[in-house]
Amino acid sequence: MKVRKAVITAAGWGTRFLPITRSQPKEMLPLVDKPLIQYSVEEAINSGIEQIIMVTALGKRAIEDYFDRSFELEYVLEQKGETKLLQEMRELSNLVDICYIRQKEQLGLGHAILTAKGIIGEEPFAVLLPDDIVDSKVPVLKQMIEVYEQYKTNVVAVERISRQDTIKYGIIEPKRVSERVYQVLSLVEKPESAEAPSNLGVVGRYILMPQIFDALKVIPSGKNQEIQLTDALRLLLNQQAVYAYEFEGVRYDTGTPLGWLEATVALALKHPDIGPELREYLRQLL
Ligand code: UTP
Repeated sequence: MKVRKAVITAAGWGTRFLPITRSQPKEMLPLVDKPLIQYSVEEAINSGIEQIIMVTALGKRAIEDYFDRSFELEYVLEQKGETKLLQEMRELSNLVDICYIRQKEQLGLGHAILTAKGIIGEEPFAVLLPDDIVDSKVPVLKQMIEVYEQYKTNVVAVERISRQDTIKYGIIEPKRVSERVYQVLSLVEKPESAEAPSNLGVVGRYILMPQIFDALKVIPSGKNQEIQLTDALRLLLNQQAVYAYEFEGVRYDTGTPLGWLEATVALALKHPDIGPELREYLRQLL
């Protein structure tokens, strides 16, 4: 079955961005010339996704408004003769079919995904964590869908991480299957480097079979009383294969101020309008 739907989880508190996130969703922070969340939405669209299920929460209304149509704004732009901008604004509101669902209590990533169960139904689906932005020629999700098409089972995105960073990631025990593709034999959440079965860490892109919902429903709450996706994946491993795909591209973790700043600089340097002047500015600064 084709992967048609994608869940984008945007309900987290974003505590690492406090105090900004007291009144502003971190997903709406700008990354060069558009909000963070738009990168995931565009990646999903460019990977062939037909419907996006956005999981939001209290205080995240700005995301819905952003992708909605604003007749007032369109009217103002029309009056001012700003036809190009008007066209861009219309395109933005027609990007894709997005439906919103609220996670009423922030009980973790696993719980956020479970919130979308009714809309997903019985089909494979993608999950994108909007903090993880990947700069790549082919959208990461598209690369993963190709792997899914071959194995017709769960696929998680992995990246080679440095040994001292294993405590920040879910780490897989891999069995190499082909170039960049591994079968996941086991999954360890945030191990010390000495206990890590590899240096392949799971990052924020997944293709999941609907059976993940059954696993999410039965696992007990883990760290911080949260329902962890990693725990559900580990349980699913008993009945279904999980593959890991080492994607092509550079990933930025924009969930922290430093990561966000790194992504901002790296992507701005590549931007045709801003890049050359920014490069010159940075040169002067250093
Ligand atoms: P994070 O672990 O980055 O948490 O969530 P967070 O709340 O976004 O940020 P910090 O750690 O407080 O700074 C990983 C992903 O899971 C989503 C987040 O929105 C992010 O996409 N999430 C997390 C939910 O949707 N709901 C939750 O209850 C928790």
